[in-house]
Amino acid sequence: MRPARSGNAGIASKQSAPGGFADRGCGFQCEYSRDVIPMGLYANCILPWFMDLALAPAAIAEQRAMLLRSLAGNVLEVGFGTGLSLRHYPKGVTRVIALDPKHPPLQRVAQRIAAAPFPVEYLPFDPDGPYPLAAGAVDAVASMFSLCTIPEPAAALRDIFRVLQPGGRFAFLEHGKAEQPGLHRWQRRLTPLWGRFTGGCCLDRDIVALVDAVGFDRVSHERVSVEGVPPWMGRLYRGVAIKPR
Ligand SMILES: C[S@@+](CC[C@H](N)C(=O)[O-])C[C@H]1O[C@@H](n2cnc3c(N)ncnc32)[C@H](O)[C@@H]1O
Repeated sequence: MRPARSGNAGIASKQSAPGGFADRGCGFQCEYSRDVIPMGLYANCILPWFMDLALAPAAIAEQRAMLLRSLAGNVLEVGFGTGLSLRHYPKGVTRVIALDPKHPPLQRVAQRIAAAPFPVEYLPFDPDGPYPLAAGAVDAVASMFSLCTIPEPAAALRDIFRVLQPGGRFAFLEHGKAEQPGLHRWQRRLTPLWGRFTGGCCLDRDIVALVDAVGFDRVSHERVSVEGVPPWMGRLYRGVAIKPR
């Protein structure tokens, strides 16, 4: 259970983000590869490289654009990663608040942030606590390939619901539990090994059941087959949930 806390923490600005990167050296701890590869190398180089390799293909970019096109205003992006989604936000988006416990100190990430036509601000937060945003603080929340990795997805979803304004949209593009029972069994078997090399990614979470449990007014989603996504990740979930007014 995450402790209840409230209040707004300071948000690192777009201008200050690249400077902040310099503080993260090779001593950075990464819990998933402790015994295998030096921590900083894994968290700051190998994992971001793997994320870009796996999540940048054109077919996935197309899904990101389809997902994000209905969002506007102040958007919280949960699990910001390497900023691959930034170029897909539509014109009506005025600010992106980037939430991620890791900020890889990479030039390409800083370049993606600098190229965005709106401010992008990292929100410092405690991954074991609630998001440091007031209730109803944002117009929309986006999560892409993050609910698989967040250690407590149900708690994260409750926070997403809380920080959304009434009528606000939660847009998600995720992989998770396969529809075929045989494949689902394999996902459960593979997850301990897979997670070890992918920053804690779980293959078999039932994303829509998790989103449904939170109290959104309407949850609509499709399962989409996307070229380039390995079969053991199943068909993607692309959906939107609306907070009641
Ligand atoms: C597979 S990556 C996806 C990155 C990005 N959303 C994308 O689509 O390219 C999952 C991300 O979730 C982040 N993450 C892990 N735990 C988290 C947490 N508790 N809250 C927010 N993000 C988290 C990881 O650091 C990582 O950047």
